[in-house]
Amino acid sequence: MLTLGLESTCDESSTALLVGQRGLVANVVKSQVQDHRRFGGVVPEIASRLHLNLLRGTVEEALEKSAKKLADVDLIAFSHRPGLIGGLMVGATLAKTLSYLLDRPLVAVDHMLGHLLAPDLDEPMAFPCIGGVFSGGHSNIYLGLSPTDWKLLVRTRDDAPGESFDKTAKLMGLPYPGGPAIQSFAADNDPKAFDLPLPLPRSLEGDFSFSGLKTSVLYHLKGTNGKTAVPENRWPSLAAAFQDVIAQAISRRMVECAQEHQVHHLYLGGGVAANARLRQVLMDKAEHSGLAVRFPSLPLCMDNGAMIARAGRVLFDHGQVDGLDVEVASRSTLGMDP
Ligand code: KG4
Ligand code: ZN
Repeated sequence: MLTLGLESTCDESSTALLVGQRGLVANVVKSQVQDHRRFGGVVPEIASRLHLNLLRGTVEEALEKSAKKLADVDLIAFSHRPGLIGGLMVGATLAKTLSYLLDRPLVAVDHMLGHLLAPDLDEPMAFPCIGGVFSGGHSNIYLGLSPTDWKLLVRTRDDAPGESFDKTAKLMGLPYPGGPAIQSFAADNDPKAFDLPLPLPRSLEGDFSFSGLKTSVLYHLKGTNGKTAVPENRWPSLAAAFQDVIAQAISRRMVECAQEHQVHHLYLGGGVAANARLRQVLMDKAEHSGLAVRFPSLPLCMDNGAMIARAGRVLFDHGQVDGLDVEVASRSTLGMDP
């Protein structure tokens, strides 16, 4: 069975082709990063126009790369939420058109489920598990009971960690996207040189809160409350400390959730899961607590069609087929009580 997965929620236009459960034969990702960089973030109107220009080409390229024809496709999966509405509509229109023309089943996928199931492309995930999605828009920790049954345990009260990376990078004059920029700027600097607030509330059961951290970095950069501004040559250490408190908070909360629910397997996805410091801290904390942790490969942490194809196939096997009237939405409902 050949599944075609379409992704267009944010600033990546992507098509993947998946043979069977895990046979990824193409995963074409066209990033729009260069086009948004001069604005310091994603501009929704530009993103939807670019999806319109790029998405169809990614389908053609994926078919060419895998030496498949459109007629070989058995199932069409696409991200229908959460994301920027314009881009989602471009993806939905293409997916519905293909489903109608080819007379193949259509499956609408929550992009969060895509990120959660990305590690399953390498080898089957273990359940129950704790799955984290940390990206430009989300900071969610779920309890996974099966590949199709997730409960949302933790989210963010304000910014997402990727957003926090992007905004902090901007304050330091680094380019968008801020995550990779801060990671290389911070490289080999002492992560404990500055004492920054942990983006977690004091109460244990709480959600993340990243906005105070960004403000604290701003105060360090500009100097306030009688403190002098941190000189520019120490900004890489400040970046290292910033990256470290995010890694500590995410890792601590993931491990707490695993212990609370007596689960032994941890999975991490989303763009921020590409962060080397976060991977290291989480691996150390997990090992210390006797937990197993697995990450998707770096390209599969970012937005991509492969994870949508995988999630679509899982949902289809579970009995989900959507009609041509299925809608797009800016917010996820995955794991939330109805
Ligand atoms: O999952 P993703 O590609 O798109 C969303 O669904 O949001 O995540 C993009 C986010 C951006 O905010 C970017 O700065 C962040 O992931 N990111 C990173 C790294 N690579 C990407 N954050 C920290 N460290 C990285 N190496
Ligand atoms: Zn994403």
